Amino acid sequence: MPPSTALVLGTGGLGSALAQVLGAQHSQVLSLGRRSTPAIDYANEASLAEAAAWTSAQCAQAPLRLLVVATGFLHGEAGQPERSWAQLNAAYLSEVFWVNAIGPALVMKHFLPLLPRQGPCAAVFLSAKVGSIGDNGLGGWYGYRAAKAALNQLVKTASIEQARRNREAAIVALHPGTVATPLSEPFSKNGLNVRPPEVAAAEIAQVLNGLGPQDNGRFVDCQGQTLPW
Ligand SMILES: NC(=O)c1ccc[n+]([C@@H]2O[C@H](COP(=O)([O-])OP(=O)(O)OC[C@H]3O[C@@H](n4cnc5c(N)ncnc54)[C@H](OP(=O)(O)O)[C@@H]3O)[C@@H](O)[C@H]2O)c1
Repeated sequence: MPPSTALVLGTGGLGSALAQVLGAQHSQVLSLGRRSTPAIDYANEASLAEAAAWTSAQCAQAPLRLLVVATGFLHGEAGQPERSWAQLNAAYLSEVFWVNAIGPALVMKHFLPLLPRQGPCAAVFLSAKVGSIGDNGLGGWYGYRAAKAALNQLVKTASIEQARRNREAAIVALHPGTVATPLSEPFSKNGLNVRPPEVAAAEIAQVLNGLGPQDNGRFVDCQGQTLPW
């Protein structure tokens, strides 16, 4: 196995589980979150610039072949997902767009330049099927749906720029399925296929392992199947 680095941003349920399983495929796995050293916080772009410089130094002997962005926000102090347009709230919308779309866009700015110009590499942004406009039959969750749709457009756009830098790269939006984490906990009803993070991470790692340039700019689920935008 030639030396390679995988970097996981976000130390929540899925990010932590993914960092564990990716050690089987990469000689070095780096994991950064709001409480790591260095820390990444989307409220502070300078933290991303500093973390990118640190990552670049760590990758001197083992190039960065995989970036996984496992951050996200659905509910918290800023509010809860909306059931009706009557509940639309600027503070919640701002937070949900910030963490799900603006933060990952700044990650693109600071971390995509660290991917090698030659050889296979991938950047995977955890999105959500509810961000699919074509698949929206239920309504509700205005902010989270719209923020993930914005993320998907950012991923598609970055995939086009990345293909000009390295024809072997894949930039992908991935729906992890429903996973038992703090993000999903209040909403995971009986009957949904809620998997433990370790199980979901093992499935996702298989998809990541098979990614190639044919996948650049795709929106896929945790089996690697194409989802509608
Ligand atoms: N769980 C599911 O069922 C499910 C379904 C569909 C899609 N997803 C997506 O999968 C991804 C991972 O979610 P999860 O289930 O693992 O959720 P989680 O356990 O709540 O983790 C969320 C992560 O986002 C990070 N984060 C939140 N605000 C941030 C900020 N301002 N700056 C930097 N990082 C921030 C958290 O950072 P800290 O580690 O620093 O706290 C944490 O690592 C998300 O994109 C989510 O939308 C999850």
